[in-house]
Amino acid sequence: MQNLRVLVIGQGGREHALVKALKGSPSVSEVHCAPGNAGMVSDALCHSLEKVDGPRVIELCRRLSFDLVVVGPEVPLAEGLADELRKEGIVVFGPSQAAARLEASKIFAKQFMVRAGIPTAKFSEVGSVDETLRAADQFTPPYVLKADGLAAGKGVFICDDREELGRAARSLFEQRTLGAAGERAILEQHQPGWELSYLILTNGEAYEALPLAQDHKRLLDGNEGPNTGGMGTVAPLMIDAGLDAQIREKVLDPSVATLKSMGLLYRGVLFIGVMVTQEGPKVLEYNVRFGDPETQVILPLMDGDWGQVMLAVAKGEMPRLKWRPLHLACVVLAAEGYPEQSKTGVPIQGEIGYQSASSYFLHAGTRRSQEGQWQTGGGRVLNAVGLGSSRSEALHNAYMQAAKVSWPGLQKRSDIGQGEVES
Ligand code: GLY
Repeated sequence: MQNLRVLVIGQGGREHALVKALKGSPSVSEVHCAPGNAGMVSDALCHSLEKVDGPRVIELCRRLSFDLVVVGPEVPLAEGLADELRKEGIVVFGPSQAAARLEASKIFAKQFMVRAGIPTAKFSEVGSVDETLRAADQFTPPYVLKADGLAAGKGVFICDDREELGRAARSLFEQRTLGAAGERAILEQHQPGWELSYLILTNGEAYEALPLAQDHKRLLDGNEGPNTGGMGTVAPLMIDAGLDAQIREKVLDPSVATLKSMGLLYRGVLFIGVMVTQEGPKVLEYNVRFGDPETQVILPLMDGDWGQVMLAVAKGEMPRLKWRPLHLACVVLAAEGYPEQSKTGVPIQGEIGYQSASSYFLHAGTRRSQEGQWQTGGGRVLNAVGLGSSRSEALHNAYMQAAKVSWPGLQKRSDIGQGEVES
């Protein structure tokens, strides 16, 4: 199919990466985004819906006759947007609400892993402070308490001792800081190791693995500081062939087989957070969408047409993918106060429009004042993306790009791609 008109749902750096990949697809003639952000308007037609929900997206689809809708974030998937659109005959890249529970409920995800025989840390389901402290007797510190529901990256507490665990449990179950998302939780055995992001495209029956990426979740260099949505990524990550085969056999194959055996409709991307431990790979979490900022470094690696690939998966087919011999790096530029309380409205200085064949910005949380001045508009503000024929070249280009802008309080890591896994 040619001259595709595609709608992307979402508004962050991941969605800007999706928009850019679709815009560069020969089969795509128009890219729209709802709601999008100020920095995307040169790449997509943005529609600022009052709310991104079923009725409003359906109305937009009817009016503009899209051939494909790509849902970026987890919240609309967990709310059932893909099902609502499919009922109207709209072709959607994104899993059903039932399958999206893999991300929307940590308890469901653990039960799924147990059923599928997928290696994961031992856990206990808890719903009160007492239950949590009693269950802690079966675990060794540090204790990991994870809110069951979606919590925008704020639902995981890593606690050094019982006192800290008690405080985390009280904040979930008594102060209700995360509302319904923290009504139930899992207490999980902490897994030391190193983490990688394995993303697969799947039609719920077969899958194609995307190149591996490595995220850097902590705010500060040396993996210090609070957890964030991700401060930078590199791809591809080359890992030992034996380890890769083990992950495919023990994690990817049974994940897809269990989606099928449970009758969970899945047409999209499944993101599996894997911790490589001394006992082998263990699944940390599932996400039912592309990673952010993993997407920024994975999509440009495909040698092909993302419009055609996403359309095929959305229709239940499973195209074969080819990859380019290229490396990418992404450095996240975050606002002062991120991740706790990001300072917005801060003017961005420098060359925000700068781009070259080997580097560019993706907009994650920018906005424009009435006078047209660029400002911080969210926690993660800009993604500096660099391409190269080696990881070090890609990193050099990403950091060169990052240096083109500044603002008071800008936060970025200076050690992206310097971890123990090297390619
Ligand atoms: N970068 C981690 C995530 O997208 O969840």
